[in-house]
Amino acid sequence: VTEKSNKNIFPAIEQSFEVRFDYPVLFVREAFDPADGGLAGVFHRLNEGRRPRVAVCLDEGLAAARPDLVGSVTGYFHAQSSRLEVAGAPIFFPGGHEAKTGPRHLQNLIWTLGNLHLDRQSFVLAIGGGSMLDAVGLGASLIHRGVRLVRMPSTVLGQCDSGVGVKNGVDEHGQKNFLGVFAPPFAVVNDLALLDSLPLPHWLGGVAEAYKVALIRDADFFDFLSRHADALRRRERVAMEETVYRCAQIHLRHIATGGDPFEKGSARPLDFGHWSAHRLEIMSGYRIGHGQAVAVGMALDCCYAQREGLLTPEALESILAALEATGLPVFVPELNRKRPDGELELLQGLEDFREHLGGRLTLTLPDGIGTGVEIHRVNESGMIEGIERLRQRAERNARQPE
Ligand SMILES: NC(=O)c1ccc[n+]([C@@H]2O[C@H](COP(=O)([O-])OP(=O)(O)OC[C@H]3O[C@@H](n4cnc5c(N)ncnc54)[C@H](O)[C@@H]3O)[C@@H](O)[C@H]2O)c1
Ligand SMILES: [Zn+2]
Repeated sequence: VTEKSNKNIFPAIEQSFEVRFDYPVLFVREAFDPADGGLAGVFHRLNEGRRPRVAVCLDEGLAAARPDLVGSVTGYFHAQSSRLEVAGAPIFFPGGHEAKTGPRHLQNLIWTLGNLHLDRQSFVLAIGGGSMLDAVGLGASLIHRGVRLVRMPSTVLGQCDSGVGVKNGVDEHGQKNFLGVFAPPFAVVNDLALLDSLPLPHWLGGVAEAYKVALIRDADFFDFLSRHADALRRRERVAMEETVYRCAQIHLRHIATGGDPFEKGSARPLDFGHWSAHRLEIMSGYRIGHGQAVAVGMALDCCYAQREGLLTPEALESILAALEATGLPVFVPELNRKRPDGELELLQGLEDFREHLGGRLTLTLPDGIGTGVEIHRVNESGMIEGIERLRQRAERNARQPE
């Protein structure tokens, strides 16, 4: 309620309303099979009785890895032309890090979409990795204050995390996602067959994020991942499909029921392992991929959790062993790198993370496998011990290869 003040001429009007968001997340294979109406049906889910116009945006990296894809997409729209109208030719958008470097590519996209005269009921269909989806999603949310967005994530991370959620953005001013909005999509179609062409580091990196949610949310899922570690490392499709499904389920549940879908508070429960991961990525000049950095970050935080009595030594060992069996690192030399004054460079990551959260430092640690607990104070010597432990483990592993 508004504070009393003798400057008020009239009583303040307390405005309040709620907006409900609903969107389906589909899990399919070969969505562009011309004889199958499933994808076309997604655009018709509100039964509005018109033929929707759809502008298609394609990740350039994906298109290069899948030279057949442009033909499949255009073939699909041709076969389904009684139900869908395609707006112009497919629009190519850079993939990976480049997609989100400043608003440059976003600006081009806005111009291109403007020339197609999309109206507010038109659609953007974005097919690509998490980076490209973040940027195209921002573009779609700005045109006419928001045209409808259907996402088709083409990476493991995109299908189980970034592509199913509500965040869009690009990097600017030296900050990740400095320009961005919370905007739920109209629908998400996870075509699991798109993952076939994904390079191995991205495939495994996505699995690291699955471990992340399993360790703080779902012991049974952790058990599944550790039993399928070898299958995931060997790129077995069925194991990956279940991984994607279960991981997406946990993320969607978190957004719907976690109480803070648009992240107004300063806790980021699903950022477990990320304070050091972000730092390691920067320290390595992005040589270490995000998922790989998250694996190391989780390993370190789990060592810390064990020292704090949150994990038993057996639980810690099973976590480290599962990550290794999946082909994920638990140690990188950057962990141990020191500044000229002898301080570990990594520890700056705690300060950066505090700033990123906007105030109070909040780290989520596993409290037993499958449950998360928030802590607000970190004992640096405990982290240093964790690093030393992982270093010795890496040394041992190097001496006795499998
Ligand atoms: N919005 C969110 O909630 C959220 C959450 C986590 C991460 N993110 C963002 O996601 C981004 C990382 O996304 P990502 O891991 O999906 O990778 P990515 O989008 O950066 O793609 C990695 C590379 O793979 C290529 N590619 C994509 N799909 C392919 C396929 N099927 N076959 C071959 N190549 C393919 C891309 O062109 C790119 O070169 C980061 O920028 C991060 O900021 C967003
Ligand atoms: Zn992450």
